[in-house]
Amino acid sequence: MTTHLRLTALFALVCCALAAQSANAQGDADAGRVLAYTCMGCHGIDGYRNAYPSYRVPRLGGQRAEYIVAALDAYRNGTREHPTMRAQGGSLSDQDIRDLAAYFEGGESAADTVTEDDIRGLDAARACLACHGVGGDAVIPKPPVLSGQHQEYIVHALGQYRSGARSGTVMSAFAAGLTEDDVEAIAMFYSRRQGVVTPDKSE
Ligand code: HEC
Ligand code: HEC
Repeated sequence: MTTHLRLTALFALVCCALAAQSANAQGDADAGRVLAYTCMGCHGIDGYRNAYPSYRVPRLGGQRAEYIVAALDAYRNGTREHPTMRAQGGSLSDQDIRDLAAYFEGGESAADTVTEDDIRGLDAARACLACHGVGGDAVIPKPPVLSGQHQEYIVHALGQYRSGARSGTVMSAFAAGLTEDDVEAIAMFYSRRQGVVTPDKSE
């Protein structure tokens, strides 16, 4: 082998190693599908309810992978309370979490494409648009997609930020400024838009 060829071969090897590493960092959706088997018992059934308090379990299909990772991490480290999800998250490795997130996101995430025009008459939602509207993709940390989420779950989540059950995020401040009526109206608005879905067990 000439030096040139040897270098080319070496270069190809390094390239492949880097590519494999970045695929790992992004998560492997096929591995995630296998891991998601137990999750689907709740998240794969449209309208499945949490028992006490009663609300619909969140839709995960098309949700941003970065947010799914952040949420599972929060259950795992206890900044987010929920007995079942803490038990579910507790046994997952970082790689498992990335794989699950890649599977649920499904390649291309849904998005909140909400504009000022869409929320005319819903003034309280104006403060949300920078992150849960057009351009929200560019925000760090990645905000979850609200469009298509169950109305009850959005109400429940905002209640958790207001009570402190979910803490340590920018949302505590934004949720605190809302009245009950604002919460109901905003939740209804986002839930009626196209966005996240109940993941399909057969996919
Ligand atoms: C027994 C039912 C059940 C099972 C099984 C379950 N979940 Fe959950 N999941 C829930 C409930 C209920 C919530 C909402 C909890 C809360 O109030 O924070 C939730 C919340 C979540 C969230 C946060 C979503 C959001 O929009 O905030 C993620 C991510 C999640 N689950 C992923 C998973 C994964 C991954 C698995 C499997 C390893 C799994 N869940 C298994 C019931 C379940
Ligand atoms: C600066 C950006 C930003 C703004 C503005 C903002 N949010 Fe958020 N929102 C986030 C982030 C980041 C999260 C994820 C926090 C976490 O990990 O719990 C979030 C989470 C949420 C959730 C939980 C969704 C789920 O799936 O669990 C709801 C509901 C929500 N926001 C509603 C609102 C509403 C309503 C407003 C306006 C009053 C608003 N947000 C303003 C960034 C923002």
